[in-house]
Amino acid sequence: MKGVILAGGLGSRLRPLTLVTNKHLLPVFDRPMIYYPVQCLLNAGIDEILIVTGGEHAGDFLKLLRNGKHLGLRDLHYTYQEGEGGIADALQLAEDFVEGGKVCVVLGDNIIQKSIKKAVGEFFSQSEGAKILLKEVPDPERFGVARIEENRIVEILEKPSDPPSHYAVTGIYLYDNDVFEIAKTLKPSERGELEITDVNNEYIRRGTMTYDVLDGWWTDAGTFESLHRASNLVAEGGANLVDEPATNGLSGVTNTA
Ligand code: G1P
Repeated sequence: MKGVILAGGLGSRLRPLTLVTNKHLLPVFDRPMIYYPVQCLLNAGIDEILIVTGGEHAGDFLKLLRNGKHLGLRDLHYTYQEGEGGIADALQLAEDFVEGGKVCVVLGDNIIQKSIKKAVGEFFSQSEGAKILLKEVPDPERFGVARIEENRIVEILEKPSDPPSHYAVTGIYLYDNDVFEIAKTLKPSERGELEITDVNNEYIRRGTMTYDVLDGWWTDAGTFESLHRASNLVAEGGANLVDEPATNGLSGVTNTA
């Protein structure tokens, strides 16, 4: 299975930091934010990755990640999203890269403590459809939120004022190749973006969506508050990582998964 990291956007909630570089290159504790989704995919056995970025600082990714070999990647690709079309718009740029197979998509500002290897393995055996990872949070109104009935997700609501549960939809998504056909049918939401929640609701409608609840902590890092929290969580507990001598270029990081 191939991996896609979505690392575009203007990072407007993190200005002025994002006036000089891309949000996903800002530090989270002792390394750039993008290292965490890269490590998340590597820990799940995915070493062919496409990075979708955009904006004025896209060139900075090349300086940092180069061909990805020093990070343990077999193959690293890049593409460029024009404008601010949203997550499902960015994902459409991955269609050729995925070559008809399944894909694991990770939002570049999502950081998790533990491995997703089990969920990826389960999805590998799932004959069709999609799988998402949920996490119970105290502030679900900031995220996509799952309505769950009898152990099935029946609907996802994007940033609802009256959340139907405390289960946020994390930015880690597993899709079969239908995702590209579904993305082409979407219409922009009120915020003018093609929403990944609309993709997920289509899989729910088809009856082919499964889910898991993430083990360990999860955070996004797109605001000053969450960026600060992410740094603290990594400093206190590590993110799939332990402090050992550097072996792979990830500055003192060894995979514990
Ligand atoms: C996006 C998704 C949302 C999801 C979140 C996870 O929100 O739209 O459903 O819960 O990522 O980080 P955004 O960061 O675009 O506001």
